[in-house]
Amino acid sequence: MNRVRVGLLGCGNVGAALVRLIDEHADLITARAGVAIEITRVAVRDLSKPRDVKLPADRFTDDAASLVRDTDIDVVVETMGGVDPARALITDALRAGKPVVTANKELVARHGPELFTTAAESGVDLLFEASVAGGIQLMRPLRESLAGDRIHRVMGIVNGTTNFILTRMSEDQMSFADALAEAQQLGYAEPDPTADVEGEDAASKAAIIATIAFGARIAVDAVYREGIAGITEDDINSAAILGYAVKLLAVAEELDGGISVRVHPAMIPVHHPLASVRDAFNAVFIEGEAVGELMLYGRGAGGGPTATALSGDLIDAVKNLVSGAKGATIGDLVDRSMLEISETESQFYLLMEVADQPGVLAAIANVFGQHGVSIKSMEQRGMGDDARLVFVTHRARESALSATLDSLRNVDSVHRVGSVLRVLGDEN
Ligand SMILES: NC(=O)c1ccc[n+]([C@@H]2O[C@H](COP(=O)([O-])OP(=O)(O)OC[C@H]3O[C@@H](n4cnc5c(N)ncnc54)[C@H](OP(=O)(O)O)[C@@H]3O)[C@@H](O)[C@H]2O)c1
Repeated sequence: MNRVRVGLLGCGNVGAALVRLIDEHADLITARAGVAIEITRVAVRDLSKPRDVKLPADRFTDDAASLVRDTDIDVVVETMGGVDPARALITDALRAGKPVVTANKELVARHGPELFTTAAESGVDLLFEASVAGGIQLMRPLRESLAGDRIHRVMGIVNGTTNFILTRMSEDQMSFADALAEAQQLGYAEPDPTADVEGEDAASKAAIIATIAFGARIAVDAVYREGIAGITEDDINSAAILGYAVKLLAVAEELDGGISVRVHPAMIPVHHPLASVRDAFNAVFIEGEAVGELMLYGRGAGGGPTATALSGDLIDAVKNLVSGAKGATIGDLVDRSMLEISETESQFYLLMEVADQPGVLAAIANVFGQHGVSIKSMEQRGMGDDARLVFVTHRARESALSATLDSLRNVDSVHRVGSVLRVLGDEN
């Protein structure tokens, strides 16, 4: 075999960037793969669209199924996105003994375990580095480099759009709405920003990260999710005064009794490495038993970074194919119990509007005490009608905090419990 023929499903942002990368880096990719890699056929939806790639028109088809069946295709790269028809196309390719490389987080998050099994049964690679955090190489470190360690927690900023919005809010005192509008103008956010802002995109990535980090079957629907639409300028300013930054975090954590996988905004100390991740950048902070703390940082999206991850996987798949090596498998995934958010623990930040009168503090402290939530710090901001109390607790169970909030709402001198945010990364 002196060349490997690749069938590419999709030629949009990511697919076209991969075609250009393979063209521009042809010499080094050939040297590293041991054979030339040629994009032989490309399936798209609309054949009439202009494409910024140097490929003859006759390589394009709008019949993706025929590309997968084509006996002249050795490897399939999927960059079309969505669950259907990508799921069936990838399954068919794997069953036909063709290695598959994909960037499709939605599909891997929803149907990863089923596809890993098909790949293992067929003895071919299914590689998906590009599906989580674009240019950050995370799957291979988790799956291979750290395979000998026990991972306790992975905590990441895995959505560039929300990180961009939170950065603008904190550095330029913008409102959420203005920062979102700017993200949309710059093309970071979709016209319908729901998937990013409500944490759906991050939840897919969290499910994939947890699956690989813990070798467990993690359903994306079991990932607890809160977005950033409720974060106010007040929260961001208050966090800064206390020495914290607000970030949308994807957290996959092994705790007593099970695994917790969740996406929510949180305050992290400004000295934590994740706090310095600005704009649309992503980073993933890993805590392993033997390795300790490790952080991977980079561009989590964009054609070039994502194509880089795809090309690395493609070279691996080609090398295995040429050498006849059995594809890398994920191993047997196990069922683990998933903890409800109420069973998890963290520190909490609370902001309350209160009556500025004697005895308020004692009444509030008493409520915290009744529910076993210990106060780490408290400060008063404003006076009279503007009096507000800001609390940071020690680690407490989420269920205890919820019960505390319910009781606080019944205290006469508490006018309103404003924001409540989890505080992570400050345990020491
Ligand atoms: N964009 C990023 O920064 C990024 C980062 C990481 C991962 N990803 C993942 O990469 C994948 C692709 O993203 P993208 O941004 O490149 O999307 P995109 O620009 O919308 O491109 C999708 C491509 O797939 C083609 N396509 C869609 N449905 C098809 C079908 N049924 N048959 C044949 N072709 C079909 C489209 O054809 P037409 O061009 O004819 O419409 C288009 O070329 C997604 O899974 C995404 O989650 C993207």
